[in-house]
Amino acid sequence: MSTPKKALWGGRFATAAAERLQRYGESVSFDWRLYKFDIAGSIAHATMLRKIGVLKTAELKAIIAGLQEIEMEILAGKFNWRQDREDVHMNIEATLTERVPAGAKLHTGRSRNDQVATDVRLWLKDQILSNQKAIRALQKALVKWGQRDFTTVIPGFTHLQRAQPVLLAHHLLAYVEMLQRDHDRLADAFKRTDVLPLGSGAIAGSTLPLDREFVAMLLGFSSVTQNSMDGVSDRDFIVEYCAACALLAVHLSRLSEDLILWSSAEFGFVRIGDAYTTGSSLMPQKKNPDIAELARGKTGRVVGNLMAMLTLLKGLPMTYNRDLQEDKERLFDTADTVQNTLEILAEMLGDVAVNNDACGKAAADPLLLATDLADWLVKKGMPFRQAHHAVGSAVALAEKTNTPIDKLPIAELKKISPIFTPDALSVFSISKGLASRQMTGSPNPKLVKKQLERWTKSLKG
Ligand code: ARG
Repeated sequence: MSTPKKALWGGRFATAAAERLQRYGESVSFDWRLYKFDIAGSIAHATMLRKIGVLKTAELKAIIAGLQEIEMEILAGKFNWRQDREDVHMNIEATLTERVPAGAKLHTGRSRNDQVATDVRLWLKDQILSNQKAIRALQKALVKWGQRDFTTVIPGFTHLQRAQPVLLAHHLLAYVEMLQRDHDRLADAFKRTDVLPLGSGAIAGSTLPLDREFVAMLLGFSSVTQNSMDGVSDRDFIVEYCAACALLAVHLSRLSEDLILWSSAEFGFVRIGDAYTTGSSLMPQKKNPDIAELARGKTGRVVGNLMAMLTLLKGLPMTYNRDLQEDKERLFDTADTVQNTLEILAEMLGDVAVNNDACGKAAADPLLLATDLADWLVKKGMPFRQAHHAVGSAVALAEKTNTPIDKLPIAELKKISPIFTPDALSVFSISKGLASRQMTGSPNPKLVKKQLERWTKSLKG
């Protein structure tokens, strides 16, 4: 059978091509990390095979003992991963069968198509729980920081221009809210990951009376997939996870960007601990916020992984295609990147020192309360558009005469609008301005304190 090929291509070609294919096609170099779930899946499948009479009790026992032995070897770094066995599934099954004859029965009613989908779902469920824990730890670190520097006032920015004064804690709590939505999106992705595809076989199930619900129960899945073709080809749960992580990474990137700006000499609001910064090989004075920059930079790959996943799926005919092997590196990279970033940012936030003077100075510009002056006029009955215009004239006058707006003579203000009385200038107090914001969601210190308490409570444990 192989002679024509040899004759045609000569010499060693057939072997060389096979080797290259093996190298190109293997996935064990990265999917080995599914081993724990592959073994758990096999033990559950074997237990079910015993239940329906395919395996004898002694065979089941031998298979379980063999799989456990393999797991110990992998844990100890002693397992011989072979690239010629393509992937994690073949490596484990082939080694088992070498040692335990009954291993040859393990794959009954199973295909690698439903096996890999099962393994990845198990792995991802576990991963989502770790991510959620790390999100909560970062939320806690933000809340703690808010409590630590509760009285610090900074300018809030729009268009990166100073806008209105806010409590630093209020700014930090904005990220706690974002992260909560990330947490919830992951919980939602978890629901659709938590479905067992095993029993779908290669595409059309099995003629054997497999007990899928029993396997689902053993593996802790909430339900089983309802269509065998969908079961082996569905990777929506990975896309959803990658999408949730992409947005999470974007949030982490924005937090990092704030920290990078705040730690610059231009802002000077914070000083990131030495352990989380580096120096320059050339400029002795430099202290660079590398962790925050890397966190911002790594967002690119997490977003890219989502695009890669969508592109991977878009042209696939039903059902399983080998293309799907490409899902794992994108998935693993996404999971590792967000997990590491969450962990290191939480750690770093514990080591950020606030420069209250710099923050206070930046927030002290009375112009940041110009809107409060317009509100004052509104309270006296002036329509807002007119009030906005009047205060705009006061700002222009302050600029022209080089006078801080809160020091403008009342006579001059009266020329702009007769409604102005000396009492109007009392709006130029940060504490008054913050305290007079009474609605839910405002940076009023009393309300921010309540929010910090609410979060402390809900993040407990
Ligand atoms: N390593 C493969 C993957 O990750 C496992 C499934 C292989 N199935 C097959 N029919 N070749 O997708």
